[in-house]
Amino acid sequence: MKKFYKILEDMIQKSLQDSGYNVSSVVVNESNRPDLGEYQYNGSMTLAKEFHKSPIEIAKDIVEKLSKDSFFKDVNIAGPGFINMTISDQALIDWTNIDDYKYEKIDKKIFLDYGGANVAKSLHVGHLRSANIGEALKRLCNYLGYETISDTHLGDWGRPLGLVILELSKRYPNWSYFNGSHTGDYEDVDITNALLEEIYPYASNKAKEDASYLKEAQEMTKRLQNHEKGIYDLWLKIMEVSRKSILSIYKRLNTTFDLYKGESDEEEFIPELLDYLNKINILEDSEGAKVIFVSEEDDKLEIPPMLILKSDGGLLYSTTELATIYDRIKAYNPNEIWYLVDKRQELHFVQAFRAAYKAKIAPKETKLVFAGFGTMNGPDGKPFKTRDGGVMRLEDLLSSVKDECLKRLNSDITNNREEIAEKIAISVVKYADLLPVRDSDYVFDLEKFCDLEGKTGPYILYSVVRMKSLLTKAKESNINYSKISVISSEYDRKLMLLLNNLDSVLNKSFNNKSLNDITEYLYDLTTSYNRFYTEHIILKEENELKRESWLCLTKIVYEITNLLLNILAIEVPEKM
Ligand code: ARG
Repeated sequence: MKKFYKILEDMIQKSLQDSGYNVSSVVVNESNRPDLGEYQYNGSMTLAKEFHKSPIEIAKDIVEKLSKDSFFKDVNIAGPGFINMTISDQALIDWTNIDDYKYEKIDKKIFLDYGGANVAKSLHVGHLRSANIGEALKRLCNYLGYETISDTHLGDWGRPLGLVILELSKRYPNWSYFNGSHTGDYEDVDITNALLEEIYPYASNKAKEDASYLKEAQEMTKRLQNHEKGIYDLWLKIMEVSRKSILSIYKRLNTTFDLYKGESDEEEFIPELLDYLNKINILEDSEGAKVIFVSEEDDKLEIPPMLILKSDGGLLYSTTELATIYDRIKAYNPNEIWYLVDKRQELHFVQAFRAAYKAKIAPKETKLVFAGFGTMNGPDGKPFKTRDGGVMRLEDLLSSVKDECLKRLNSDITNNREEIAEKIAISVVKYADLLPVRDSDYVFDLEKFCDLEGKTGPYILYSVVRMKSLLTKAKESNINYSKISVISSEYDRKLMLLLNNLDSVLNKSFNNKSLNDITEYLYDLTTSYNRFYTEHIILKEENELKRESWLCLTKIVYEITNLLLNILAIEVPEKM
């Protein structure tokens, strides 16, 4: 991957060294005073102290060296010693023509935990966020050269399953699954996802009002977790139906995983884990339960101990979490494990990570990272709900977005309308979801997010489709182009400068584990392109050098935009 800032920084470092200032690193930024230059170096101030010279003297030494280099059109000093640099046309052209956008492999393994759908329950907007952010980060890691392993970590083993099975046993007491003395195969019962999605909220509400129902559900959960014949077989059946529906939603979201494991798959590690925890004497008694103390001296807020075993022996989300860490490290030994989960679960992860390090389940070198995200809210500022106040099913949300996109779709398009609307709809939810900084909340606004103007998925897609159509027309007219040779307007220049930021945008996004840098950059890039496009009549341009340069620039912007959309897992429709 070509790294523009690295080139600039190396040049400055060399000029510093040549002037007798030995520095180990230099940081160059995009200028915040474009009237003075395109890039700036502000290091003279800090170096002044170190080398006992005035910043201006140091700046002068650097400028004297840099000005001789044809890489720059202008290098000047502002204020007490800020250095401003403007790149020469030829350097910018040469650099833009270098076709090097691939990263080398990095010997580092990152395990990503995202998705997190729950079996027998509808997916909701929180799961949308986890899938969008996680999938994009995984693709970003891969693009940057990291090895990744991704896992959905399905919620398939807790109380919700006990509730659903209990309610099924009330409604269909004659099913052989509930007959303890049944032998042979079980009958093929008609469980649909719709039935499961109806049963879960019903049973969950009932358990809130009816203590004996709750108790029965707890019993049922335990029977399941004990792999009781019949109950476990029914669970397998529920899993099959529910997983299919979960996977079809992930497919719509262009989201795939290497592992489709669930909480239930981690259960087998629990006895081993408990043995180990007992052996190292880390478990302590607390009101009949077993816990690991995880508070630390300088905690500002008290971090409660992590519950490992309840007094009734029931299985816990936290115990499963620890077993999962144990399993992942044993099986894959990743350098880092990232959790893309709602930020409201942060405490759970702080406890789990501390417990994992304290018990040496995770070695110090393994980075356990909680990357929490904010909520998608409704207009009232509260987590997004349906009109009647229920939890918004993710599928319903996607359908309403798709309907809106279909309604807005150009009537000239007669073929594949459904397919095109679906792709646009996915761009709507993904782009809006990835636009805010990861841990901030945002308000869902259907009209705004579907708009063809502004920071929206459709705006970006529309721009890309337009670039593609220009390139196709050029091809059809047999216009050939291979290299940029002139910069003929400020619009060309702006685009070329923006392209220089690609590597730093990708790395910033990786470091922050937030896609907002990429979505904002995509917006800047397409907006600058659209301005460039309106200012030039590209195909009819008679000056061949100009036309060729413009087409080349279009092709590069088109390819980079596609590359970024691919990282965000947004597909481009053929037409718009
Ligand atoms: N199933 C959980 C939920 O819906 C999310 C799981 C997140 N991952 C984890 N390792 N705990 O809230």
